[in-house]
Amino acid sequence: MRVVMVGTGYVGLVSGVCFADFGHDVICVDKDRKKIDTLNSGGIPIYEPGLEALVAKNVKAARLSFTTDLKAAMAGADAVFIAVGTPSRRGDGYADLSYVYAATEEIAEYMDGFTVVVTKSTVPIGTGDEVEKILSKHHEAGSFAVVSNPEFLREGAAISDFKRPDRVVVGTENKQAKKVMRALYRPLYINETPILFTSRRTSELIKYAANSFLATKITFINEIADLCEAVGANVQEVAKGIGLDKRIGSKFLHAGPGYGGSCFPKDTLALTRTAEEANVALSIVSSVVDANEARKRRMANKVIDALGGDLTGKTIAVLGLAFKPNTDDMRDAPSLTIIPRLQDKGAAIRAYDPEAMKEAKGLLNDVTYTDGPYPCIQGAEALVIITEWDEFRALDMKRVKDALASPNVIDLRNIYQPETMRAAGFNYTSVGRS
Ligand code: UDX
Repeated sequence: MRVVMVGTGYVGLVSGVCFADFGHDVICVDKDRKKIDTLNSGGIPIYEPGLEALVAKNVKAARLSFTTDLKAAMAGADAVFIAVGTPSRRGDGYADLSYVYAATEEIAEYMDGFTVVVTKSTVPIGTGDEVEKILSKHHEAGSFAVVSNPEFLREGAAISDFKRPDRVVVGTENKQAKKVMRALYRPLYINETPILFTSRRTSELIKYAANSFLATKITFINEIADLCEAVGANVQEVAKGIGLDKRIGSKFLHAGPGYGGSCFPKDTLALTRTAEEANVALSIVSSVVDANEARKRRMANKVIDALGGDLTGKTIAVLGLAFKPNTDDMRDAPSLTIIPRLQDKGAAIRAYDPEAMKEAKGLLNDVTYTDGPYPCIQGAEALVIITEWDEFRALDMKRVKDALASPNVIDLRNIYQPETMRAAGFNYTSVGRS
C-alpha cells in the first residue's frame, strides 16, 4: 500500500513509521520545513523511546521518506491520513479544526484516482462529514472515501501501542475503503487484534469516550485518595481491592497530581462542548474536568501545608516536570500549575527532569535547572516528586537526607513507602496514604 501521512507530530510520525515498518510505502508530509529537514537528516523532533531507530531502519529500507511537497507525495497514494493538530480553541474548549480543513483542501487539490482519506487526529463528531463535503466540491462521489481511524497510542509507549493495540477502530461504511484499511492493518491479524468497523460518527465518538472514561477513572481514584487521607485508609490498597474485580480492572487507578498531556484535558473538554451543542447532559465528564483542574491546585497546597504554610526564602527541589515519564511533553503537565503556586508563596524552585527541561524552560519562569537529581536536592527545604521517572524510584535515601536542608519529601506519585520513609527520618507526605 502507498500511504501519505499529513502532519509529522506525535501521532503522524509514529503512525507513519509503524505503517512503514509493517511493509507499506509511507511518505510523511509537513509544512514545517525545519521539521522535515531534521527528519531527513536522521533527527527526531520529539522524544519517544525507540522512534529514532525505527525511523532510521525504515528510511534505510526506502519505505519511509519525509517531504514538504504534498503534491508529489500524493501521486498514486492508496490512503492519505490526516494527522495534523487539533488543539483546544483558545478560551472555549472546542477543538480547533482549521488545520484539518486546510489539509483537506490541499488533499482535494492533488487527489487523483480512488483515494481513502483517513482522519487520524482526534476530531469532533461530524468532522468526517465536513471533510467529505470539502472533497465533494472538487471530486465526484465514489472517487474517494472518508474514514475515521482514531489513534489510541500513549506517549512513551507509542510504538508498542501502535503495533500491539487492544483494538483498531475504523469508521466507514464504504466497501472499497474497508478493503484498503484491512490491507493496511493486515500485519496485526497475526496477533488477532480486533478490528472494529463502525459508522464514521461512532468511530469519532469512540475516541472521545475512551479518553473521557480513562480520565474519569483517574479522577475517581484521585477523589478516593482524598477520602483515604481523611478517614485513615490507603488508596493503593483500595485500588488493588477494586481493581481485582475484572469489571473494574486495575489499570489507570494510580492516584496522583491529576492527569495532564495532550489528550485527556483537551478531549474531555471538547466532549463536554459537543454534548452542550447536542443538548445532552454529560455531567460526569464535566465534573471530571473541574475536579482535575482543582486537583492540580490542591497538590500545590499539599506541598505548602507540608512546609507549614510560609515558603518565603525556601528552596524547593522538584523532580519530574513532564506530564508523565518517558516523554518530554509538558502539555497540561501538573508541574505547570504546581510550581507557579509555590513561587507565589515565596519559594525558589530548583528542578530536574530527564527529558522535559528544554520544553519547560519556555513555560516556567525563574526555575533553576540542574543536571541530575542530587544537585537539585542539595540544600533544599523539601523534595517534591511530580513525575514518576524510573530514575527517581530508587534514589539513595541516605544521600537525599544528607543533601536536604530539612528532611521533607512530598511524593505526589506514591513511589516510596510511607513506613520506610518515616523510619528513615523523613517528614514524608504522599497521596491517599494517611
Ligand atoms: C492518553 C491515552 O492513554 C491514549 O490512549 C490516547 O490516545 C492519548 O491519551 P497519554 O496522554 O500519552 O495517552 O498518557 P497516559 O499514559 O494515558 O496518561 C495520561 C495522564 O494520566 C498522565 O498525566 C498520567 O500521569 C495520568 N495518569 C495515568 C494517572 O494519574 N493515573 C493513572 O493511573 C494513569
